[in-house]
Amino acid sequence: MKFTIKAASLQNLSTACLVLGVYTNQNLPELTAQADKLIRKKISKLIDSGDLSGALGQTVLLHAPEGLRAKRVLLVGLGKKSDFDQKKFGRAVGAVAMALKKYALSDAADTLVNLDIKGTGMDTLGHLLARTLANSTYQYSQTKSKKGKPSPLKQIDVFLADKSKRNVLKKGLDVGTAVSTGMSVARELGNLPANICTPSYLGEQAIALGKRHKELKTKVLTEAQMKRLGMGSLLSVGHGSDEESRLIIMEYKGTSSNTKPNIIVGKGITFNTGGISLKPGAGMDEMKFDMCGAASVMGAMTALCELKPKINVIGVIASAENMPSGRATKPGDIVTSLSGKTIEVLNTDAEGRLVLCDALTYVERYKPKSVIDIATLTGACIVALGSVNSGLMSNNDELADKLRQHSVAVNDPVWRLPLDEEYQKQLDSNFADIANIGGPKAGTITAGCFLSRFTEKYPWAHIDIAGTAWLQGKDKGATGRPVPLLVDYLLNNA
Ligand code: BES
Ligand code: MN
Repeated sequence: MKFTIKAASLQNLSTACLVLGVYTNQNLPELTAQADKLIRKKISKLIDSGDLSGALGQTVLLHAPEGLRAKRVLLVGLGKKSDFDQKKFGRAVGAVAMALKKYALSDAADTLVNLDIKGTGMDTLGHLLARTLANSTYQYSQTKSKKGKPSPLKQIDVFLADKSKRNVLKKGLDVGTAVSTGMSVARELGNLPANICTPSYLGEQAIALGKRHKELKTKVLTEAQMKRLGMGSLLSVGHGSDEESRLIIMEYKGTSSNTKPNIIVGKGITFNTGGISLKPGAGMDEMKFDMCGAASVMGAMTALCELKPKINVIGVIASAENMPSGRATKPGDIVTSLSGKTIEVLNTDAEGRLVLCDALTYVERYKPKSVIDIATLTGACIVALGSVNSGLMSNNDELADKLRQHSVAVNDPVWRLPLDEEYQKQLDSNFADIANIGGPKAGTITAGCFLSRFTEKYPWAHIDIAGTAWLQGKDKGATGRPVPLLVDYLLNNA
């Protein structure tokens, strides 16, 4: 999808559809001051007749408005003016995307970035607009014999009233476009079935990405290489599977200076049966999504490759398939992690932390500025936070605050949970240095506590995306979260 900034008058914009926002209890939308009197009159009539209230997300389509070159006008409700914020902006753009899809339009001119939102810059508005519209055209088709028609929406003219903001808007549109590419990559990998998307497949995708971009160097460690390094914890998860495990390392170097990298680490369980601690059958297909943390790392690295910022970032994916078999790890087995710490595997379904801990020790060698791991780690996180916020845990207040702020700015929210010392003792083991589960209480936090034992050497944050990485029901599918948060954080904190 192409975004072009247009500063010509609204009357002269020739487009399939001019998008205008309307607040509730307001006779005229702000921007129509520049449009023709006729369209203003038409809108007033719609409001008077009660057909347009301006409620957030409401849309009304007008045809061939006299006095405008636009073939249509799409009015979108913005809700109460005093309540309007970047979150509602995102919802309004989402409603626009749905309407453009419904009418199968090929192009549109959007005026919404001119809305004044306190504390939200033109770059963020551009990002949200581009990302939302571009994302609305994503369609899964790889494993369908009849491919759906691709979206006709190709061109968006972004109307800009204040010409001095052109560069900031351009930057925002570029970031939003790249983030949407990254989200599509993440969604596609998440949606692919586990008989295609295996640990080796993820490795091949990373190598292919590295071949396309000279800034990116990819390394894929095999089981034999990981064994030599001593990654007994990661390897124990894939023991029961015929698929080989992988550790995938993508080094993005946008600057020759040796600034310390920010590192993102993704959980890549390409299918999670639970292993010998077998999961119940109902809904088990959804455990193909247990590599969505890995997918978000691949998505964020793809976005960076598109934007080419002058920063250093490393993306790591810890990938295995968790299966029961005669060779599978059994409850009570003790494994030795790369850190040297021994782990009693009391539940083979608490495997995400077992692959992550070795990856988190591995990245110590880079002396990172910060490390963020992303994982569909605990069902308890869905109980605590639902599908709105991802769970955030951290050993560093500054990093946690930053992530919260970025997450709110780009409508990809995270909420912090505590990692008090007192929770740590739930992981005590009689037979090893640490147990891999902490009992029924505070399951998300004890998973975070487990990871915290392997991240003492750098500022670290953990994002549990169990509730936010995919949707269930008729819209079942990966969301691409938290690619927006990761990219926004990485771009602004080198
Ligand atoms: N991937 C799951 C957690 C999960 C479950 C995410 C459902 C999304 C939806 C993870 O591997 C897991 O099984 N966690 C266990 C941990 C427990 C054994 C301590 C869980 O949450 O039940
Ligand atoms: Mn599990």
